[in-house]
Order: sequence, then C-alpha cells, then structure tokens
Amino acid sequence: MRDTVEFWLNGELVRVQNPDPTQTLLNYLRQTRALTGSKEGCAEGDCGACTLVIADPDARNDDGVWRALNACIAFLPTLDGKTVITVEGLAKNGQLHPVQQALVDYHGSQCGFCTPGFVMSLYAHYRNKGAVDDACLNDVLAGNLCRCTGYAPIIRAAKAMYDYPAIEEFELKPAPSQQTLALTMTDPISGAVKRYFAPRTLDALAQTYEQNPDAVIVAGSTDVGLWVSKGRKVLETLIDIGKVAGFADITPAADGLTINAGARYSDAHAAIADKWPSLSELVRRIGSTQIRNAGTIGGNIANGSPIGDMPPALIALGAELILRKGEVRRQIKLEDFFIAYGKQDRVAGEFVEAVFVPKPKPNQRFVTYKISKRFDQDISAVCAAFALILDGEKVQSIRIAYGGMAGIPARANKAEAILLGQSWNEENVRAAMAALADDFTPLSDMRASAQYRLQAAQNLLFKFWLDKSDAPYLAREQAHG
Ligand SMILES: Cc1cc2nc3c(=O)[nH]c(=O)nc-3n(C[C@H](O)[C@H](O)[C@H](O)COP(=O)(O)OP(=O)(O)OC[C@H]3O[C@@H](n4cnc5c(N)ncnc54)[C@H](O)[C@@H]3O)c2cc1C
Ligand code: FES
Ligand code: FES
Repeated sequence: MRDTVEFWLNGELVRVQNPDPTQTLLNYLRQTRALTGSKEGCAEGDCGACTLVIADPDARNDDGVWRALNACIAFLPTLDGKTVITVEGLAKNGQLHPVQQALVDYHGSQCGFCTPGFVMSLYAHYRNKGAVDDACLNDVLAGNLCRCTGYAPIIRAAKAMYDYPAIEEFELKPAPSQQTLALTMTDPISGAVKRYFAPRTLDALAQTYEQNPDAVIVAGSTDVGLWVSKGRKVLETLIDIGKVAGFADITPAADGLTINAGARYSDAHAAIADKWPSLSELVRRIGSTQIRNAGTIGGNIANGSPIGDMPPALIALGAELILRKGEVRRQIKLEDFFIAYGKQDRVAGEFVEAVFVPKPKPNQRFVTYKISKRFDQDISAVCAAFALILDGEKVQSIRIAYGGMAGIPARANKAEAILLGQSWNEENVRAAMAALADDFTPLSDMRASAQYRLQAAQNLLFKFWLDKSDAPYLAREQAHG
C-alpha cells in the first residue's frame, strides 16, 4: 500500500502525500502549484476553461492516448500514474507549440479564460493526429465554450496546425509505481475522516466494496465530481475503479458485446460504431470530448438518472446487466434495474460489473433520437430508442424505450403491445403514439414541459416510422444539407 499520489506533470515527477481525496486537479494545479493557466469557468464540466491533457500508460493502443479532460471535476488521486500536461508545458525554449502558434497567426487567441482550454483541446487532437475536417473539429471543440466572439478563427487555426514545424513533445511515461494507492486524511473543516481506495483487480474491488458498502464508487467522476465542486458534499469513503485491470475492456463474442463498467464513452464509441451506428451517434452526442474521455457507460447506468442517454438505447437493444457483490454475480435485464426514481435493484456493496448487449438480429432496425435544447454538450429532454423487426409487413418484434418521460428510463409497454403482431402502417403507429399518453406521465422541469415531452415522444415514434433507414440520422441530415 502507498499513500502518495504520483504522476508526471509537464514532464516532472510529482509526489503528493496523502492529499484530500476529493481535491480537484484544478484546485491542486492553481492553488498548490501556481499553475494558473487552466481556469475555473463553471466548475461543472461544461465550459472547458479548465481543459488539460492526460495520458494513461495502460492505454491499449496509440489511438486517442492523449485525452482532453476537465480538471475541475477530476479528483487529484484519480490521476495517479498518469501523464498530465497543462497549457504551461507546451512551449519549449521560447518556441510556441504549433497549436499555439497557429492560434496566434490565425487570430484564434481570445480571452484568457477560454483560450487555454481551446489550446489544450486542440493539443490533444494534435497529439492523436486527429483529422481537421469541420465535423471532426466541431466535435473536438464542442466542450470549449466562448459566448463572446466566434469559433471561425479557431477552426482556421486548427486546420493549419499541422503545417507548422514540430516541436519537442512530452512522451507517455510509465506509471511511477504499481503499488496500490490508499489514502486516509481528516478533513480540517468538516472533521470527517476521508478515505480513498484504488483497487487494482476486480476481486480486490469486490472485496473492498463489500467491506465498505457506504463508499462512493468513482468512475469518470462526471457526476460525482459535481457533487463536490458544486454540491460541496463531503464524501467520506471513495473507491476509484479507474485502476482495476481490465475494467475498461470491451469484449466481442458471437452473441454480442460485453462492455465492462469502466469503459469510457470514447473507448466504446469505435467498438459499437459498426454494429449500432445510431447508438454510436448517440454516444458522440454525450457531453463533450472531455466528458466522453472520462465518463463511463457503467456510471451512466449506475447513477439511475431518468435522463441518462445510454439506458433507453440499451434497454431497446435488450441489454443485460451484470452485477457483482463479493464473489456473487447476477445477471438481470437492464430495464429491471431501474425500480423507481433514485432506486435501483442494487444491494449495499454490489456494483455494476458489465453490460451485455446482444448482437443485432437479422433485419433488426435500431434507431435512437436525442432531443435537447442545445445540440452539443446538453442533457436530453427526451431520448428515444426503437428496435424493430418486421416479418413482411407485420411487426415481429418491437422494443421502444424512452428517457426523460418518467422517473426512470422505461419501455413503452402499451405502445409496444398495440404494434406487436400488427401491420407496420400509419394507422397502427398513430394508435401506438396515442398509447404513449397511457405509458407515461412526464414531468415538467427546466428542460421541457410535460406536454412538450409527450408530444416529442409521440413525434419521435412517428419519425421512426417515416424513416426507412437506420443510418445515424445526423449523418443523413448532414448529407442532405
Ligand atoms: C458537462 C456534462 C455533460 C453531460 N452530458 C451528458 C449527456 O449528454 N448524456 C448523459 O447521459 N449524461 C451526461 N452527463 C452525465 C454523466 O457524464 C454521465 O452520467 C456519465 O456516464 C457518468 O459516468 P462517470 O463514469 O463519470 O460516473 P461517476 O460520476 O464516476 O459516477 C456516477 C454514479 O455512478 C456510480 N458508479 C459509477 N460506476 C459504478 C459501478 N461500476 N458500479 C456501481 N456504481 C457505480 C457512482 O458511485 C455514482 O453514484 C454529463 C455530465 C456533465 C458534467
Ligand atoms: S471549469 Fe468549466 S469545464 Fe471545468
Ligand atoms: S469566453 Fe473567452 S473570448 Fe469568449
């Protein structure tokens, strides 16, 4: 066991003994290291002002090794073993990095708040040798907000960044230590004893959680981070799943895909793209690049949010959840996991180990639609998912699931029953649309009124009927201008 967090910061080995486990990386950099280039704009993963770049020595291949990350919601100990690069580290011997020089030359340098974040998002993309077409750059920069000027000069700079002479770069370093990290400290303000465990094997995770059932599991901390940064919650015991070997694996088999709970969105995106193009498009619209580089599919399921995007899609696909407590595993249908708002079928000390997604059936059409106020970086008002198999004109099988329509993500049982075994025609689809009013009593909140939600859900079913293709709808809309 070790009580010292160790990581590479701008090429220098940093050791921090027994830090506060919920100190954010941003606060550490700004307050302890006086590295004030990374800014705090929102403290909730939305604006990108705090963006820096990390790399994980355990990354399995060279693709996407350099990850843009929101430092404002990342807890310092979760960086243990990694390489961290901040905006202060880019220029070498008085020479700006190509990304920086391009931003200067193309007038993409804006205010001191947003610019460092833009630089770091582009730097990660540069290091990953990413493409510089408009669609790709929009994606890379969707998590960096500027409300005052424009993005055009930044995009121009990004398109030119590879034209500049290369500069000496930081390399990915091996983790300084393989010993398990475990921290304990007494919070000077609350007096609470805070503990942090980072088990390195699945068995150790199962044992640690069984022994500490009140602990909060931390995966990407894109939810948990906000409990601290915005909610000011004192979290006493944390179990970080980020060091568990193999916990981010995605394993294809003849009958489907097993996605381990620690797989981040950015890991899963490529693995699901060819099987379920519409699901991959939905993943692409989760948060921003920074959020997808941290957030996990397991976290999206385990948090039980009624507006998480993965559950409706995975429920429509007939996914199963693998839960584990100690030595005991059980497998349940994903839809049965969500019992009521804030209540899931998970006992103390039991964690989400993986989700199994059955492979697409022959002739299955699967489409998801996400309705949010802002196209990028926004939580759904309504998320819909449809999986349909036709036998000629008749509906052989249909699964319809929605997020945002109830206290939990749920299937539209009544609408499904109206369609099953019947002709797939407008009359029956309209009857199923009407039945959605019996399936759901949505809430009104800041994202949408109940009436809007119901109408959107009905219209999405109609859109699914009108659509004849299961290509991602965004891609089709872009192709049609
Ligand atoms: C700016 C921003 C944009 C976002 N946009 C979207 C969006 O578009 N769509 C969307 O659906 N969500 C969105 N989210 C929410 C969040 O990113 C997702 O819910 C994400 O999947 C959470 O995963 P995580 O790994 O970060 O979970 P964490 O924050 O680490 O954990 C979330 C919860 O799950 C528990 N948990 C995590 N892993 C396990 C496990 N294996 N077993 C048991 N419990 C576990 C934790 O204890 C905690 O209660 C957004 C968040 C932010 C900050
Ligand atoms: S400060 Fe806004 S994303 Fe971190
Ligand atoms: S936020 Fe920096 S220029 Fe707009």
